[in-house]
Amino acid sequence: MLRVRPSENPLLSALAGKTVSPPPIWLMRQAGRYLPEYRDVRAKVASFLDLCLNPNLAAEVTLQPLRRFQFDAAIVFSDILIVPYALGQKVEFIEGEGPRLEPVSDGKAIARLDRKAAGKALAPVYETIERVVAELPETVPLIGFCGAPWTVATYMVEGGGSKDQAKARLLAYSDPATFERLIDLLVDVSAGYLVQQVKAGAQVLQIFDSWAGNLSEEGFDRWCIAPTRRLVERVKEEAPGTPVIGFPRGAGLLAERYARETGVDAIGCDTGQPLTFIKDRLQALVPVQGNLDPVLLVAGGEALDRRVQAILAALASGPFIFNLGHGILPETPLDHVARLVHLVRAGSA
Ligand code: CP3
Repeated sequence: MLRVRPSENPLLSALAGKTVSPPPIWLMRQAGRYLPEYRDVRAKVASFLDLCLNPNLAAEVTLQPLRRFQFDAAIVFSDILIVPYALGQKVEFIEGEGPRLEPVSDGKAIARLDRKAAGKALAPVYETIERVVAELPETVPLIGFCGAPWTVATYMVEGGGSKDQAKARLLAYSDPATFERLIDLLVDVSAGYLVQQVKAGAQVLQIFDSWAGNLSEEGFDRWCIAPTRRLVERVKEEAPGTPVIGFPRGAGLLAERYARETGVDAIGCDTGQPLTFIKDRLQALVPVQGNLDPVLLVAGGEALDRRVQAILAALASGPFIFNLGHGILPETPLDHVARLVHLVRAGSA
């Protein structure tokens, strides 16, 4: 049932461990506010969640960046916080502020989360995937995704984004059994969610662990590595052969253990990871993805050109996927994105 065979696509080849020249490129959050056509669609719906839950519009914005730029993959348009929403938690996106959730901070609130309702609530995402796959060129794979249990749990417990995830860490330290129940629930729902995305047509999966960097070593083992490993195991059982990219943002030196121990097929590297570390310690284990500073893509100019060359020089001689070290910023000029794609295509030919 493979639409795109690994041998026909640079992203799938790199994920299979091959050195691809030029390397594949896609950008985290490649659909979004830096595109005027995204802002037009966004203006048609009252809330961001309405957009995520409207398969017609979500499919449209998924395809938008592919019409402008020659990316090697599409990523389904949704959000990691669709999972708490599907579990029955109140989730809102406040303009100019970010997500706001009704905090889930004790055993009682966790017990109220509705695992059974989640499957149905997530159905619009599967429909989006089906629509996208019907329209995508056959040579371009679609990436499905979810947030990692730890990162999603931080939003659920904090009631939104936070600087240091202190409330979530406090719950994890003071009542680990309760926190574990939340994490276990998220492993279970997220595994089902990823598998259904594959059944709908996603050919690659990414797990976003955006707040992995604020855990202690012990916390990283218990709340990042262990749940991610269980999540990846379930995906490998139920959707065998689908490559999984793990993105433990801010993991620092612990990224090496993440690459060894979680079972992911590739690791996403954030902007802070030194290229020598990525090459010697991570790429020696699994294909790597990253890690251009999104702010440098806003800046553009010679500094951008130089850094792209440095990344290519360090990493393109092995299995590598060009990406940013975090999501693209809304203020990114379109011609800088075009320049980046050009540099990556030309730079290592
Ligand atoms: O990559 C893609 O193009 C797919 C779409 C995608 C979105 N969010 C759309 C979005 C993906 C993969 C995400 C992941 C996501 N969402 C993460 C993990 C990656 C990361 O950035 O660390 C996180 C932590 C979230 C949670 C989230 N969603 C926040 C904190 C915010 C508000 C901050 C912001 O950038 O506005 C969102 C909103 C959001 N998700 C927007 C988009 C396009 C902007 C909302 C809008 O357009 O009105």
